[in-house]
Amino acid sequence: MADASAPGKIIFSGEHSVVYGEPALAIAINLRCHVKITKDGKGLLITSKNYIQKYYYSTAKLEDVLSGKTINSKLDNIAMAVLTVFKPNEISHKLEINSEIPIGAGLGSSAAVAVATVTAALKIKGQKYDNDTISDKAFICEKIAHGNPSGIDNLIATYGGIVRFQNGNMTKLELEYEIPIIIINTNIPKETKKMVELVKKNWKSNPEKFNDIFNKMGKLTSKIEKELLNNNLERVGNLMLENQKFLEKIGVGIPNIEKLISNLSKLNIYGYKITGAGGGGAMIVLMKNGDTKEAIKIVETLGYDVYETKITNLGVN
Ligand code: PMV
Repeated sequence: MADASAPGKIIFSGEHSVVYGEPALAIAINLRCHVKITKDGKGLLITSKNYIQKYYYSTAKLEDVLSGKTINSKLDNIAMAVLTVFKPNEISHKLEINSEIPIGAGLGSSAAVAVATVTAALKIKGQKYDNDTISDKAFICEKIAHGNPSGIDNLIATYGGIVRFQNGNMTKLELEYEIPIIIINTNIPKETKKMVELVKKNWKSNPEKFNDIFNKMGKLTSKIEKELLNNNLERVGNLMLENQKFLEKIGVGIPNIEKLISNLSKLNIYGYKITGAGGGGAMIVLMKNGDTKEAIKIVETLGYDVYETKITNLGVN
């Protein structure tokens, strides 16, 4: 038996524009995906408390996944994680997934499951590995899940902490304080793949306009990074609101987000924005210190899932 876990994440700034070469900031959060792999039977049996009860990949199905066929659109990325370590006919394993990260919310659940599965498979094989190997293998799985991902999710799930990412390169940032953010899952389903395709379609219809927006979004991300490092959260909040306007302009806003936020108007909020692909899924709210608990109570009463976020430096383990 071998096990591994990896964290979910929020994109603090730079979603979508990162796909067009601009920088993004991602933060690993204290919600994790746990994976256990055991040698058992023939083929791959996936059990998950989150996705489905059970799904079985025969050797033939695993070969199909490897050759690019879709066998189970929700799980092929996970099968691929095992296939990055073992050949189809070597696989005789059972995989148990137990994730705290909500699915389809933009909180990096697919990358975390891929990173944890690749690592558990490498461990059970007894193969030496490092973080770059894990992240590269998980990127293959992310392409199955999301089409044309930037690669930020697999990196942050592997390394943890706070990461600035641009064109495949990452730098880790160190903050001496906890950022007071809450994450609200709007419970509106969204698919990253579809949202990335939608933005691409919009971009193709007017590349000049969209390149200009992406460029401005990139500049905002750099400013946010600087102000986060200065611990100037009021400024960070204002920049988040600017960022949110751009996200709405490129077509990935979440319906009724203002209404949701208006319920928090009696509290002190520095800023808010969607996090991840948008169109639904999660948003983040940057609170003035002290109001986080109160905000959580209000949002819970409205019937949304809400998380008080702690940054985790623990990447895959
Ligand atoms: O919603 P998520 O967690 O899948 O994040 C997607 C982030 C995008 O920038 C929209 C896509 C990407 O691959 O970077």
